[in-house]
Amino acid sequence: MSQRTLVLLKPDTVKRGLVGEVLSRFEAKGLTIVAMEHRLIDGSKADEHYVEHVERDFYPPLRAFVTSGPLVALLLEGDEAIEVVRAINGATDGRKAAPGTIRGDLSLSNRENLVHGSDSPESAEREIAIWFPQH
Ligand code: CMP
Repeated sequence: MSQRTLVLLKPDTVKRGLVGEVLSRFEAKGLTIVAMEHRLIDGSKADEHYVEHVERDFYPPLRAFVTSGPLVALLLEGDEAIEVVRAINGATDGRKAAPGTIRGDLSLSNRENLVHGSDSPESAEREIAIWFPQH
């Protein structure tokens, strides 16, 4: 079933010059880029996106990180796109993520883990409305 999912290429991806590398993995898999935007977000946008995490211990540094520089927001579409993107991204902690995944190949951090992908159809719908309301 074709699905849409929200992906963020976080500020570490932009700072490290890995936007092309990461994007090419999604494109090579066959996912379609429906919309893409390079932007700097403020803390309230971060709170809206990470509403499930705002009370967690790890949130303040995560908030500082995701607002530390521009990121790239993507709306991707394809068959089973939510699960497919999560598999391509790999486990949250880059130190534990499997080789072959974006995080497993390119990240050595639990926080600066390069990418975000919606974790369910419900979160995809909520996150797409936040980032790409016109879609
Ligand atoms: P993401 O998939 O965007 O979802 C929540 C983010 O919080 C996660 O990627 C990481 O960037 C960050 N995160 C999750 N758990 C931790 C943790 N234990 N310590 C630091 N950052 C975390």
